[in-house]
Amino acid sequence: MSTSRVIERADALVGIVDLPADKSIAHRSILFSAISEGTSRIVGFPNAADPQSSLSCVRALGIEVEADDDALVVHGKGLHGLRKPEGDLDCGNSGTTMRLLSGILAGQPFDTRLIGDASLSVRPMRRIIDPLQQMGARLSAVEGHAPLGIHGKEASLKAISYRLPVASAQVKSCVLLAGLYADGETSVIESEASRDHTERMLGLSRFETGQDRIISVMGGRSPEARMWSIPGDFSAAAFLMVAATLLDGSMIRMPRVGLNPTRTGLMDVLRAMGADIRVENEREVSGEPIGDLIVKSAPLTGIRVDGDIIPNLIDEIPILAVAGAMAEGVTEIRDAGELRHKESDRIAAVVTGLRAMGADVEEFEDGLAVRGGSALEGADIATHHDHRIAMAFAVAGLVAEGQTRIQDAAIADVSFPGFYDVLERLR
Ligand code: S3P
Repeated sequence: MSTSRVIERADALVGIVDLPADKSIAHRSILFSAISEGTSRIVGFPNAADPQSSLSCVRALGIEVEADDDALVVHGKGLHGLRKPEGDLDCGNSGTTMRLLSGILAGQPFDTRLIGDASLSVRPMRRIIDPLQQMGARLSAVEGHAPLGIHGKEASLKAISYRLPVASAQVKSCVLLAGLYADGETSVIESEASRDHTERMLGLSRFETGQDRIISVMGGRSPEARMWSIPGDFSAAAFLMVAATLLDGSMIRMPRVGLNPTRTGLMDVLRAMGADIRVENEREVSGEPIGDLIVKSAPLTGIRVDGDIIPNLIDEIPILAVAGAMAEGVTEIRDAGELRHKESDRIAAVVTGLRAMGADVEEFEDGLAVRGGSALEGADIATHHDHRIAMAFAVAGLVAEGQTRIQDAAIADVSFPGFYDVLERLR
């Protein structure tokens, strides 16, 4: 994974793009199918590295999964049918695999050990260890990091009511999955809405009181075996959305994109900045809103982005910062300290990369401000083993003068295999 890729300036991007399937929904579809009673069919499961990590862990836990045309057929074994794996469960680069799977493994009678790559091995796991321990699970970690040892337990977990200390769908989902193995009703309380795929896909009850949303799950009930159809990934669309907006004369159509409102914050912000983004054919598939996105080029004006919308565009902040670097005026992003705990410290990575390209950027502990309007210059960009940093700066390279070299470019395969080929085809 160490080859670099040179990106040249582009004139315009035109065409239709079939996006990779949504990574968040894909992880959940395979994990939930594994612990459901009976056979599930997942249409469009992506070959991106992250969801493939969830798939290989599920197989290592004794679940039979077959490929059938464009679908996976998963023979679920219920809440208590998983088998002790022969070795470590390798989550690769995927925080979602590690954190969601831990919720399921906390309720198993056998020991497991979860490992990850260099990036995942420095990401914070205390945030799932704490609530799981409150539920009576036994876990060990190395200073709050993977490798994560989860010790088997014959008795049920204890149902808890847990207020999320950080807006994190991974932590929320971990606790709710552990709740399936608890003796009663487990609730998670969130004051900022994070992505809600788990609640939707498991059909969990939720209600709102004031600022809070409370999501509850009853222990002992396995998810229903069913058919899942995975929409295109809005987080993958984001890179092309910004590229088409910035390059004069562009027009891209992306059919069948997931438009769950807890994911589409970037679309709202780009529109407020002046972007021309249209949605057609809005409909619902597997309980998720989807539609076709049509993006045309448009001039952007800087904006301040903070508060409740941050969790709904958390993965899109690197590419939003690139948009900000090309917008008229200042774009300031705050309340986004969580970005320092992603596949890399994304605030530092974005600030360093944009500065290397000649942008005027200020760094804050919880975000950044970029003054746009002047041309970017091609530069050598370190990706820090982070797919979204690689793709955000590839887009910056399309609008910069000269050449931009993306180091370790193949890391984009974590969520968007073929990303650079798509850019080549569209230019
Ligand atoms: C994800 C949740 C988010 C996001 C990640 C995927 C998920 O992480 O950044 O890419 O599928 O639940 P956090 O929950 O840690 O914010």
